[in-house]
Amino acid sequence: MTIHPPVYDPPFNVTRASHAVLAVRDLAASKAFYVDLIGLVVSDEDEDTVYLRGLAEVCHHSLVLKRATGTSVCERVGLRVFTEDDLERAKSYFVEAGLPAAWVDVPYQGRTLHVSDPVGTPLELCATMTTKPRLLTQFDAHHGACPHRLDHFQMFTPDVAAASDFYIRLGFRLSEYICPDGTDEPAMVFLQRKGNPHDVVFARGAGPRLHHFALVIPESYHFFFVCDLAENLGFATNVEFGPGRHGPGNALFVYMRDPDGHRVELFNTHYQMMDIEDEPLRWDASRAGKRRWQLPARRSWFTEASPFLDVESSESDPNEVLPVLETYLLATH
Ligand SMILES: [Fe+2]
Repeated sequence: MTIHPPVYDPPFNVTRASHAVLAVRDLAASKAFYVDLIGLVVSDEDEDTVYLRGLAEVCHHSLVLKRATGTSVCERVGLRVFTEDDLERAKSYFVEAGLPAAWVDVPYQGRTLHVSDPVGTPLELCATMTTKPRLLTQFDAHHGACPHRLDHFQMFTPDVAAASDFYIRLGFRLSEYICPDGTDEPAMVFLQRKGNPHDVVFARGAGPRLHHFALVIPESYHFFFVCDLAENLGFATNVEFGPGRHGPGNALFVYMRDPDGHRVELFNTHYQMMDIEDEPLRWDASRAGKRRWQLPARRSWFTEASPFLDVESSESDPNEVLPVLETYLLATH
């Protein structure tokens, strides 16, 4: 594969991953998970919707929970653009590309544009939101994992190279990528706009589906505290993978499934990646997935993900061999 070169003058200016909109079957149970356990803060709520933000966020919401009218799905992946002009340019870009693009009204957001990428991932772009106080030094609001902010999304997609090409053309920069050993065909790409390793990540798999959204937490202590708290609050079995450490990005992590199975990653610091001479880092899959001191993820982590609202997913490859915990245990015991 020839990786598309970076685009430093993109058609419109995306600044960062912004917010996720999830449909959930039991709003109270989901609120208990994200507020009482994870520690997000309620910005506003009504009978059918809860708007949440992290402790370091002044924008109104980074997670919106909506009472599901059908199955639990991810409704939208939210991206911020810098200015209203960027929104106009985004509308023109998607229309000219023959992709869906429509203005919508969304509470607590400025003018909002709904678009879809070529595989149907439903994106929501806005330039402004209502603001709220930043609670970073209001310590009586800190609890659970003390999440600071939303950082990135990871999606399954059937064609990682195509996704990489599309988002690089929008100005996203490739920070790291994983290929099967000895090949240059990416199985996973990490793409960023905000100057750390990723805003959107695409992994090969049946899709489009949302694998996870990720929240930054402040200290390694909080990984263990939030897992202990999960035990006390009845969410022990929601802890799916970790705490552990990633190869790409080198962050500590823990993945949890919310009451509907939507996956959230809690992770700590990332490095900076913004200078023009920064080159993407390629990983052989065997090295990227090498488990130094930790066990592999269970099969669910490799295969399960949230469908997008009214978007059909491709089929998974039944012959794909995945480095899952279940196989590892059979081979080593
Ligand atoms: Fe992640």
